[in-house]
Amino acid sequence: MTQLTVRKLEVDLSQGFDRHWHGGDPFRSQYYNALSMSFPVGEQSFIDSVREGLLLLPDTPDHATLRADVAQFIGQEATHRHVHGLYNDQLEKQGLVNHWQHWATKRIEYGRTHKVGPLHLLAITAAYEHCTAVFADGTLRYGSWFDAAEPRMRTLWRWHAAEETEHRAVAFDLYQALGGNYRWRVRWYLYVLVLFAMDATRQTVLNLWRDDTLFKLGTWWSAATFLLGRDGMVWRCTRPLLQYFRRDFHPDQELLQPAAQTLAGEWLQAHAGSYRVVR
Ligand SMILES: [Fe+2]
Ligand SMILES: [Fe+2]
Repeated sequence: MTQLTVRKLEVDLSQGFDRHWHGGDPFRSQYYNALSMSFPVGEQSFIDSVREGLLLLPDTPDHATLRADVAQFIGQEATHRHVHGLYNDQLEKQGLVNHWQHWATKRIEYGRTHKVGPLHLLAITAAYEHCTAVFADGTLRYGSWFDAAEPRMRTLWRWHAAEETEHRAVAFDLYQALGGNYRWRVRWYLYVLVLFAMDATRQTVLNLWRDDTLFKLGTWWSAATFLLGRDGMVWRCTRPLLQYFRRDFHPDQELLQPAAQTLAGEWLQAHAGSYRVVR
């Protein structure tokens, strides 16, 4: 009924990893560390929003697949939360401080006290899921994004990317099935884009500062090539990110060949020894 699989990643981070695990590159290491810091709180809020949305979905046979997909979505995101929690424990040991989780928690609490409705929360989740899917696609498509990373970290990030690609449409489909409209979908997407850029920048800068690499020329050169170099984020992500503004957008539309779903499937097949299927 559902195409989604929940997997347990068999990567051991208990002995820690290098501060500059991304090919000795402080900028790339601290940028991805920043993203990891956002996941436990962020992915829990995604889980909560689809759970709440599911309560509003009529229990009819035509929604059976979507219901099953949501259950698997929750399983995948829960595993990501867990693994990134272990990852973040190591970052704390390295002296980094996770501010992003507090910024996110404050906003979630604000939403709760101001009674932001379930459809709005789902629109926010769908927006984050699109950003995640775009970055996930790059992680699997462009070798330069992760080839230089330490093998365990490369496996962790590409496993997460493969599952994000697999479940990229679930929150969006639930939003649509509950009657979510275009206007609020794009309004929340704009909000998420601004917030994400701001949070990622702030947390990366704070990580670099703690890492004592903020004021090194090499750090800024790396940031520039990361964004504007060959297969840089700006060139590769702008167009797919803008697709979300189309009225007829759906996350399963494939912009590039080979398709993102194909890349994810191939990676999972080639790395079957790195995880165990849970359900
Ligand atoms: Fe995830
Ligand atoms: Fe996700």
